Amino acid sequence: MIKFLLNQTEYQLRDIDPNTTVLDYLREHLHFVGTKEGCASGDCGACTVVVGEPCDDKIYYKSINSCITPVGSLHGKQLITVEHLKQGKQLHPVQQAMVNCHGSQCGFCTPGFVMSMFAYRKNNVRPERQSVIEALGGNLCRCTGYKPIIEAAMQMYRSPLEDQFSLAESSVVEKLKAIRQQQATAELSAAGKTYFAPDNVAALADILLKYPQAKLVAGGTDLILDITQFLKEIEVLVSTSRVEELKLVEETESAIELGAAVTYIEARQALIAQYPDLHELIDRLGSRQIRNQGTIGGNVGNASPIGDMPPVLIALGASLVLRRGDESRQIPVEDYFIAYKKTALQDSEFIERIIVPKAKPEVQFRAYKISKRLEDDISASCGAFRLQLDDGLVKSIDIAFGGMAEIPKRATHCEQALIGQPWNDSTVRNAMIELEKDFTPLSDFRASADYRLKVSQNLLYRLYLELQSSAEQMRVTHYG
Ligand SMILES: Cc1cc2nc3c(=O)[nH]c(=O)nc-3n(C[C@H](O)[C@H](O)[C@H](O)COP(=O)(O)OP(=O)(O)OC[C@H]3O[C@@H](n4cnc5c(N)ncnc54)[C@H](O)[C@@H]3O)c2cc1C
Ligand code: FES
Ligand code: FES
Repeated sequence: MIKFLLNQTEYQLRDIDPNTTVLDYLREHLHFVGTKEGCASGDCGACTVVVGEPCDDKIYYKSINSCITPVGSLHGKQLITVEHLKQGKQLHPVQQAMVNCHGSQCGFCTPGFVMSMFAYRKNNVRPERQSVIEALGGNLCRCTGYKPIIEAAMQMYRSPLEDQFSLAESSVVEKLKAIRQQQATAELSAAGKTYFAPDNVAALADILLKYPQAKLVAGGTDLILDITQFLKEIEVLVSTSRVEELKLVEETESAIELGAAVTYIEARQALIAQYPDLHELIDRLGSRQIRNQGTIGGNVGNASPIGDMPPVLIALGASLVLRRGDESRQIPVEDYFIAYKKTALQDSEFIERIIVPKAKPEVQFRAYKISKRLEDDISASCGAFRLQLDDGLVKSIDIAFGGMAEIPKRATHCEQALIGQPWNDSTVRNAMIELEKDFTPLSDFRASADYRLKVSQNLLYRLYLELQSSAEQMRVTHYG
């Protein structure tokens, strides 16, 4: 059974098709139609709702795309929709600020914006313009324009923080903790389909041995599009999102170890502390809603040629701990990708952990994402570079790209042209030509093959230029 709080009321789900999304559950089953469907693919933000999760004695509020979230993932969480904000006739301060700033015209996008703003308001004591823009990057508006909406997000801070959610916070924490303790594996079975959400890794391994055909789901930001866009039916879904061991971020002497179900938002701080340059890539990966839900395990697991983290992990020399039943093995990330969407995973095996070596002072790291839009856009090319110089010579270099081949891949010819050579303009230009031997990219709606190759060559040149002078001059990182 799946148990969650809809605002403050406990709901139990027993007979709902586990392929149902939270959006469809809200609109079709509960007739809560304030939450809108724009794209059903996580792109527009019209379906944004907020989930509350207990964190010590507080609730942490996350904006998520309900259109790509399976209903079973609500287990042990609080679901808040736009319907829950108003108190009697009194609008919530977030809604009132939208009215005051004329932040809505046709209104279709408004509930989604309001929910993203609500999550921001609950989690931030003070507004900061750039982080407001970051929080709203996954919400699209086709008629109002963003200026009044951003203004509303700044103005909502004029009212005090205390609201009905703060008053109920401690009782919600207690209720959610109680739900979480009741079942080791939450389960939903209906319409010939099943959703399992175990809370420990041994149970996860057992379920996968029993159901080798099962599909693992972490954040669902990739997999659930199979249901909403390709109209597939998934018979057995096994969620990693409750598995305690897979939610850990641990630091050893030599590495950062990320459980496979750690989200981007949860991994961000530990990764950026080691590799400050990852800041831009992580903050531009999807939208706030996607980063709240999506995991690095899922980014590797889906084996997409255009995923952003695989080239980063390959260049950093990261490895994966794979587990099947009681047995584990460790492989380099680059050996995980075999062919288009084909991986080294065996039946019933899963990614347990991702081991990222710590930074070393003598080694430089850069990651560059090329996409048409700054926020919430898939890369046309994504390049990652790890470089060590010794007395002006290239001692070692690791280069990997996404978007350039059927799998995320190392640029071996390019690397060989650099190793042992002086780090200067002519060596770098020669290595740029060698990149043509590494990749024969495709043309698609994101970019032509020529553009992909050219821009990727230029990313190596950007690395060279950035290491000569200040990084700020080379990149557009926000629109201000
Ligand atoms: C609007 C939008 C924008 C996006 N933008 C970006 C972007 O900018 N860059 C980018 O790289 N991606 C992007 N994505 C893709 C997606 O969000 C990421 O790949 C994300 O990291 C997937 O993680 P998840 O936890 O949601 O995976 P899920 O959807 O839960 O799973 C993805 C795949 O991985 C498998 N899997 C999950 N966990 C494991 C595990 N532990 N072991 C083995 N296999 C596993 C699943 O079975 C599934 O096949 C975007 C998606 C959307 C919808
Ligand atoms: S409906 Fe567009 S993001 Fe969900
Ligand atoms: S107000 Fe019409 S889409 Fe935003």
